[in-house]
Amino acid sequence: MKTLFRICSIVLFFGLSFLLDCAYPAGEIPLYKDAGRTVDERVADLLSRMTLEEKILQLNQYILGENSNVNNIGEVSDTFIPGIGSYIYFNDNAVLRNSLQRRELEVSRLGIPLLFGFDVIHGFRTIFPIPLAQACSWNPELVGQACAVAAQEARMSGVEWVFSPMIDVARDGRWGRVAEGYGEDPYATSVFAVAAVGGYQGSDLSSPRSVAACLKHFVGYGLSQGGRDYEATDVSPQALWDTYLPPYEAGVCAGAATVMSAFNDINGTPATANHYLLTEVLKEKWDFGGFVVADWNAVEQLISQGVAADKKEAAYKAFAAGVDMDMKDFCYKDHLGALVAEGKIPVARIDEAVANILALKFRLGLFEQPYAVELPEDERILLPYNKELATKMAEESMVLLKNDNGLLPLCAKTVAVIGPMADNREHMLGSWTAHGRVEDVEGSIYDNLQKEFGKKMDFLYAAGCGFDGDDRSGFAEARAIAEQADVLVLCLGEKNAWSGENASRSTLALPAIQEALLQDMKKTGKPIVLVLSNGRPLELCRIEPLCDAIVEMWQPGIMGGKALAGILSGRINPSGKLSITFPLTTGQIPMYYNTRQSARPFQGKYQDIPTEPLYAFGHGLSYTTFEYGDLYLPKDTIRKNEKLRLEIQVTNAGNFDGKETVHWFVSDPTCSISRPVKELKFFEKQFIEAGTCRTFYFELIPERDLSFVNAQGERFLETGTYYVMVKDKKIKLELID
Ligand code: BGC
Repeated sequence: MKTLFRICSIVLFFGLSFLLDCAYPAGEIPLYKDAGRTVDERVADLLSRMTLEEKILQLNQYILGENSNVNNIGEVSDTFIPGIGSYIYFNDNAVLRNSLQRRELEVSRLGIPLLFGFDVIHGFRTIFPIPLAQACSWNPELVGQACAVAAQEARMSGVEWVFSPMIDVARDGRWGRVAEGYGEDPYATSVFAVAAVGGYQGSDLSSPRSVAACLKHFVGYGLSQGGRDYEATDVSPQALWDTYLPPYEAGVCAGAATVMSAFNDINGTPATANHYLLTEVLKEKWDFGGFVVADWNAVEQLISQGVAADKKEAAYKAFAAGVDMDMKDFCYKDHLGALVAEGKIPVARIDEAVANILALKFRLGLFEQPYAVELPEDERILLPYNKELATKMAEESMVLLKNDNGLLPLCAKTVAVIGPMADNREHMLGSWTAHGRVEDVEGSIYDNLQKEFGKKMDFLYAAGCGFDGDDRSGFAEARAIAEQADVLVLCLGEKNAWSGENASRSTLALPAIQEALLQDMKKTGKPIVLVLSNGRPLELCRIEPLCDAIVEMWQPGIMGGKALAGILSGRINPSGKLSITFPLTTGQIPMYYNTRQSARPFQGKYQDIPTEPLYAFGHGLSYTTFEYGDLYLPKDTIRKNEKLRLEIQVTNAGNFDGKETVHWFVSDPTCSISRPVKELKFFEKQFIEAGTCRTFYFELIPERDLSFVNAQGERFLETGTYYVMVKDKKIKLELID
């Protein structure tokens, strides 16, 4: 609809602009340069003045600087391509960008500014916890604020477009990119998608603190076969509509400026050549008014995916399917002209794509302010507020998985801090660290524990072993300090590069050397607190029984050490809950909470291991005890078009103040199509002082919360019995006409 309107305006204004152009006395500004006009008017006017060649150049993105994505060949490019639409900008300040922008505006006939994009996944320079961890905070407001900080740092450093948020629902921890998303649940991912878009874009894209967001990777990429990156995905239409599309629809409704088409082949058609998904669903059904960019080299990759014989055919397929901008491979630059001349691509489609891109440039205010202000570092990055927020985000995203006999908070005289992660700052950053630097990480776990406890506790340190390999020579030293301590804090985990793009693993287990270290330390008989830093759910079945307490700190970013020390000391009461299931073993994959009903729920179990996960979705302990009252429903029958306010009281019955997240689930036991055993419909986190109680509300709207989509994406609401569930509380609800 928006695109249609834009095209109509284009047609209308085509003649008008010509007249206006002639009407402008020399020296007067053309209409598209008049900030007082609407974006659509300006786009239409500018488009009417452009040659086909100028238009096609706008549809390409190239790179500038040294590529920090190791998977995309670390080439350095300073190639200046006059008239190109966009660059990926790898520098961390605005100087180079501005010089390029200046050069562009000097040579550009119409003065169309360049658009600079970059991968800002969990922070630009102030690195926050990885998104998977952020989701464990169940605090969308905080996630939005973290994105706003990233936006401020990026925009003030010369980037106005971020390739984020990554909203691929992912349920296979072997896939390295599980770290980049918000976990296994479509509703939660949708909520965080909306929060991230709001945080990045703010209320005004032209603000020097806002950037355009990009929902990626559209769509189904999270279902990579066997967790192997870039593989084809097979997604049933039902699962597509139920699980993989909803976060994108939510992000589009929230006004995301751009969408990135995915690498994967989906059901036989690569996502980058998928007309049904890109045009029929995204652009037509959802009325997406922004533009679609291909993932890196994804247009050219249509050749390796076997649907295009050469770059020209690849350009044709991607562009005809709905991809507006070609990232990096110049298939569009080199071939769209010929495709138009041959009548294969209508000029109207070129105009539509260019209009989408120009509209964003206008909305970002680039025509009025093409240059980023060149500020000194201390005015744009790592600002005190940014670090404070990164600390808060880390505190809220860590998950206390186990705490037998109240071992935590730590109460001891001497603590041995052992393991490859104990005094390591580098791997706290996680994958996709944008411009984050190891020296920005404010201390290792060991450093922060000493700082947190001061003279109250003695800390001894030994690495014991590396992250992998089989060198056990450090075990003896670790054993020696363990013998002197009252409690052992074992810090194990994954290196940065073990998750993220092109970082699949065949197992969720930690390398054998790390498990062996823990097993060896167990021989001391001392209580063990296991601290984990990783970018995916882990297989803990061999080591979990050896530990008294386990804290999942994830890859927590630059302030992670401080946040963890606060949790271990009890200054911070942990409040994170898992956004993804921790299977007992890798062999249980796929394992997620909202599976469909089994034909024989009482049979079909594994013969060799339990069928339950080790830690379920939503699991997370606190230092206090939250007691749930009964679920209250004002009436047990609801009509369509009615709303019902459900409530539950939660009492903090322990001695610590704390935050609790209540998850509201719905199930539909009998329906014309089978539904998952339960589905998350709402969540809320509240602070509850010790000894007090809080009421949590869920306003249930049948059309939103009890309906379902079929395999064609049509939404239905059926009368009948439903259940609403919170923890182990379950209540019946009848929906009538
Ligand atoms: C990744 C994208 C990223 C792009 C640009 C690709 O390899 O899949 O997520 O935005 O590179 O760096």
